[in-house]
Amino acid sequence: MIVEAKQLYKTFMQGGYPVEVLSGLDLQLESGETVAIVGQSGNGKSTLLSLLAGLDSPTKGTVEVAGQELGAMTEEELAIFRSRNVGIIFQQFHLMSNLTAIENVSLPLEIMRTPEAYTKAAIALERVGLGHRKTHFPYQLSGGEKQRVAIARALVINPKLLLADEPSGSLDAKTGDQVMKLLFGLVKESGTTMLLVTHNDALVRLCSRALLMRDGKLFPYQIPD
Ligand SMILES: Nc1ncnc2c1ncn2[C@@H]1O[C@H](COP(=O)(O)OP(=O)(O)OP(=O)(O)O)[C@@H](O)[C@H]1O
Ligand SMILES: [Mg+2]
Repeated sequence: MIVEAKQLYKTFMQGGYPVEVLSGLDLQLESGETVAIVGQSGNGKSTLLSLLAGLDSPTKGTVEVAGQELGAMTEEELAIFRSRNVGIIFQQFHLMSNLTAIENVSLPLEIMRTPEAYTKAAIALERVGLGHRKTHFPYQLSGGEKQRVAIARALVINPKLLLADEPSGSLDAKTGDQVMKLLFGLVKESGTTMLLVTHNDALVRLCSRALLMRDGKLFPYQIPD
């Protein structure tokens, strides 16, 4: 089991009132699964991903990733754990604007003091078809290219868990299709467990199963034909 979240609750204060976004949510992800999460805007999908990444903590409940309970770790331990085990891809890419493509990809390796970080980053960039864009800065790249850099950065650490939050959400349909095909190919190849938030039925169909977020919990979701 790569992810085991039990009875997660998350309450935010909004305008002075508590709003319960997650209400006793359970989730289990087996190794190698690709699981889609669908659901209406504002119902807690990104919040769940933050909790699984240890970027935020639940109001109540526990999260285990790769057998380790996130709530038992200090901020520093969490940062190390994340850099070793969890890759994250966002809708808005979140590349470091002052770093080149290859520097963005090598950064997680540098943080872990991995030997030959630069060489490994170069290989990762080549695998996403960006061998010719190594020294470009994010502003010099197209949206699809930026997302490919983000994919290379997420996968360069060989994460046990890959979290993708609407990764094709800011790309046009054709570019989104191409980049997502690439993502799924790499994920299958590496056997990485992926949790993917998407509004796109075509992407949901590429996953091994799907869940619907509603009322702060997850329900099995029938993938449309
Ligand atoms: N840091 C925060 N402080 C206060 N409220 C928050 C915070 N983060 C999220 N929320 C609220 O929690 C709810 C769920 O937000 P979340 O971003 O998880 O939704 P989502 O399902 O990802 O939506 P979308 O599909 O639009 O991305 C929203 O009402 C949002 O306003
Ligand atoms: Mg969201």
